[in-house]
Amino acid sequence: MTEPQPDSVTLHAGCKINLHLEITGVRENGYHELDTLFFPLPKPFDTITITKAPADSGLILECPALDIPAEKNIIYKSWEKYAAQTGWKPDLSVHVEKGIPDGAGLGGGSSDAAAVLNYLNTYCPAPLSAEKLNTLAASIGADVPFFLNNIPAHATGIGDELTPSDISLAGYSLVLICPDISISTPWAFAAWDKAMLRNNACNNKKDILTTHPPEDRKHSSRALWLFNSFEVVVYSAFPKLRAYKEKLMEFGAAGAVMSGSGSSIFALYREMEQATRAAAALEAEGVATYLHHL
Ligand code: C5P
Repeated sequence: MTEPQPDSVTLHAGCKINLHLEITGVRENGYHELDTLFFPLPKPFDTITITKAPADSGLILECPALDIPAEKNIIYKSWEKYAAQTGWKPDLSVHVEKGIPDGAGLGGGSSDAAAVLNYLNTYCPAPLSAEKLNTLAASIGADVPFFLNNIPAHATGIGDELTPSDISLAGYSLVLICPDISISTPWAFAAWDKAMLRNNACNNKKDILTTHPPEDRKHSSRALWLFNSFEVVVYSAFPKLRAYKEKLMEFGAAGAVMSGSGSSIFALYREMEQATRAAAALEAEGVATYLHHL
């Protein structure tokens, strides 16, 4: 039985980090094959308030932090695609308070989209199966399927073929920093393509897949250690980020790595005190810092 739709509901859409992100190839359409381990974090988060709107208003979307027309927002796209597939087009007013910075590699937009898709599928008179919802989510953005379930997951394909992971970081303290640098994901992929073409002296994008060393790919199915293919190209364009990572390491981190296509970086500490000191040091430099005891 579908639940009755509430007059108003407030959702917290959390973020993700990639404990491991390896680009393993390039598809004909330019999209990249990935081998990645997604891990959800409760903060930073976006606050989404969804209220029933008067009949025939469609979707009224307010997201004051984003300077783009509502129709370009990934939430709008999600609502439209869900309506097209199910025939259910609820009149809604959606207000988004952004807490997850844009261009941080934390999946903020994808998290919002998944929260709205989950809302729609909860109250739709004829909801989609989990599989169909997953396919719809992937057509909206590569990271959206992960946020539907929001549990640690190993992903392949373009990041949309998910297998739940039993990885646990229990006992670790994690410091996530969000430097004031916004990185466009398409830019980061293009920079990686360019670097690969340079390094391998191959002539076109399609060759990247075949010239990428197979040994690198073999390991990644286990995807257990901190790694990110984007680090080299992103750090060479934004050296300040490499310096932040080194600073996080100085406090005794077991490891530190960039998340997604950047610019956020996280570090894992075995001792809570190391993490607290690292977080305080980065904060003193004016960097937004989030401390998690896992
Ligand atoms: O799917 P999403 O909108 O998050 O991706 C943004 C852009 O990043 C895509 O347009 C594409 O250029 C690039 N991308 C990619 N391979 C992926 C995911 C994204 O090349 N697996």
